[in-house]
Amino acid sequence: MKARSYYLCRECGARQPRWMGRCPECGSWDSLEEVIPAPERPEGARSRSIQTARPVALRAKSANGPGEERLKTGIGEFDRAVGGGIVRGSVLLLGGEPGIGKSTLLLQVADALSRRGRAVLYVSGEESLEQIRQRAERLQVDGEQIYWLGETQVEAVLAAATELKPHLLIVDSIQTLTSDALESSAGSVGQIRECAGQLIRYAKSSRTPVFLIGHITKEGALAGPKVLEHMVDTVLYFEGDATYAYRIVRATKNRFGSTNEIGMFAITDRGLIPEENPSRLFLEQREAEVPGSAVIATLEGSRVLLLEVQALVAATHYGTPMRIATGIDRNRLALLIAVLEQRGGISLANADVFVNVTGGLQVSERAGDLGVIAAIASSRLGGPVDPQTVLIGEVGLGGEVRAVSRLEARLREAESLGFRQALIPRRQREEAQRQLRGGALRLIGVGGVREALERLFSAAELATLRRPVPSPAGRPPGTG
Ligand code: TYD
Ligand code: MG
Repeated sequence: MKARSYYLCRECGARQPRWMGRCPECGSWDSLEEVIPAPERPEGARSRSIQTARPVALRAKSANGPGEERLKTGIGEFDRAVGGGIVRGSVLLLGGEPGIGKSTLLLQVADALSRRGRAVLYVSGEESLEQIRQRAERLQVDGEQIYWLGETQVEAVLAAATELKPHLLIVDSIQTLTSDALESSAGSVGQIRECAGQLIRYAKSSRTPVFLIGHITKEGALAGPKVLEHMVDTVLYFEGDATYAYRIVRATKNRFGSTNEIGMFAITDRGLIPEENPSRLFLEQREAEVPGSAVIATLEGSRVLLLEVQALVAATHYGTPMRIATGIDRNRLALLIAVLEQRGGISLANADVFVNVTGGLQVSERAGDLGVIAAIASSRLGGPVDPQTVLIGEVGLGGEVRAVSRLEARLREAESLGFRQALIPRRQREEAQRQLRGGALRLIGVGGVREALERLFSAAELATLRRPVPSPAGRPPGTG
């Protein structure tokens, strides 16, 4: 008997009995994908997909050690990102673009666990045993407790896992798996959902954590339904850019820990090396005394990162000025430019403004506002911000510098990296002074944007900032 097909939305996972151009649940266009259940087979033929419930001796549960709820790898940067270790029975998704290093990271995680005597089952539908062996050799993985399985059928994977009883199951990748319950091809919404569902049931019933690797598309979305993110307990993204020598693991969802904790790694021939002092890495390439550069202290989860903000202000050649932001929100940049003009008295009317946070990081909190403003003013002026100064403060529409959270931690990080001076919100100065008593960092409280600019630049410099950007008109092309 042929089972009836149905449709699943790629975006929200809603189920519809027939095809529609637009998902009635989430409103996405052309997002419904057909799911074809496999025809029913005679009794027994599908037994492979049926997991038999088997009683387990109570003591067998303590294989991880009694009371040990989290599996720690000992790789500090990784354990932190997952919230202090992998929770037993949880399902984690590691998303990232092809080639970013997902397989490498999880093989290193498997290695770390194996060295601690934990068995890991690494299922790969992407690479052959030979390829994995080569990688393992390059990474100097000892592999004592790592088991490899080249399999793409989820029922077979589960049968193997049920037999081996590993401490961790890694599936590389969820997009290569298929279930014999469906006829759809690997990577389709139906298959991803079905396979993830089976793996989640296995994780919960066996208390074995399962790590799913998921490819993301160029647009940054997980290839597969958004609903996959809802199904799993923890979503991690592996980020980085081909031009940078480091990678970041970031939790965007975590039922068992805080999100936005990051783990940093440097990339080497021998694999990923945990980077415990990322600020140093980010500021390493900074050139001192260059106009348009300012250092901010931003929070990433529980940790402080010092980052360089660069700005470039150039005369507009055609029509509307361009405002391009990389690493900060575009609307935030527009707002800060408006504040700089209206409250700081700096003319940017005929100017293109480019702002970039170096290192490829995205800064989402506002404590970097003051640094962005300083970098723009500095570029506009052609004079550098003192390279030993860090800028901390949110900027309001009235041009006021507003208080930030965890100022003390930010200042301590700056101090430990050898900064000499910090511009901070005036309201917080007294308390910060008390907290940092005896420290080498000089604290300057500023109430507003204008005052901050007066602290950073001389009166003569500021006078030039108030004049409009010279128009490039009249100059020969290419010399502007
Ligand atoms: P890989 O782990 O295969 O990426 P993904 O599974 O996300 O597609 O890594 C891609 C390539 O980069 C691979 O050839 C190995 C190499 N690589 C290193 O040499 N060192 C590293 O530290 C990392 C992360 C990757
Ligand atoms: Mg891979």
